[in-house]
Amino acid sequence: MTQNYEQLLRISIQEVMSGDLPSNGDASTDDQAGNHTQATFTTPEKTHTQDEFPVRSTLAESALTPSAEIAETLAKVEDRQAVDDSSQLSPCETKQLDKLLVSAPYPAATSIDALKVIQKQRGWVSDASLSLLSAYIQVSVAELDSVATFYNLIFRQAVGEVVLHPCDGISCDLMDGVEVRAAISQKLHIKPGETTPDNRFTLIPLPCLGACDKAPVMIASEQVYPHLTLSKIAQLLDELEGNKK
Ligand code: FES
Repeated sequence: MTQNYEQLLRISIQEVMSGDLPSNGDASTDDQAGNHTQATFTTPEKTHTQDEFPVRSTLAESALTPSAEIAETLAKVEDRQAVDDSSQLSPCETKQLDKLLVSAPYPAATSIDALKVIQKQRGWVSDASLSLLSAYIQVSVAELDSVATFYNLIFRQAVGEVVLHPCDGISCDLMDGVEVRAAISQKLHIKPGETTPDNRFTLIPLPCLGACDKAPVMIASEQVYPHLTLSKIAQLLDELEGNKK
């Protein structure tokens, strides 16, 4: 009996070592007397090497956390934005920049006008556009960025097709400017600094627009709209909405 048990154990160990185990975890053998003996044992978990499951292993190693996923998504969006934002200046842009460079005493003197050229063509000035401009007019990115962020009519973030600049200066506020701005927000369902979901309007109030005698005032699409009233605002927004490209 002892011999049979040892024999059975030896066979089982050999099968475990070779990995050649029955799928149901059963093993059977015949003893020297011809008696059929069946043994049941638990299949040990096989340890897989990294090469066997390279993809799963890589994913496990990366162990993406929610914040890492967000960062990855943002990086993809930025990449996409960079691709969409053409990799070179257009002939139209370079032509206008050349004109500015010829007439300026030194390249940095063209900064604000050069930024306007870019914004006119692209709607706003992205980081990629800033780099292209910097390389072309030979003014550092930092210098251009400081100019762009100083002037509030140069947009460093994407804006809608029409940017509404109602004045929030004191003279306009005394002439119902607060109500006018509230009416714009209410009609478009956006707050200051926001863009409508259809990307049509962006609302950016600005301090005194220099037309206090015409208060309350708003600038939109390079037009000055004076003496605004609540009814004028509703009509004006309808007109601007109807002028979609
Ligand atoms: S305060 Fe609005 S134009 Fe001056």
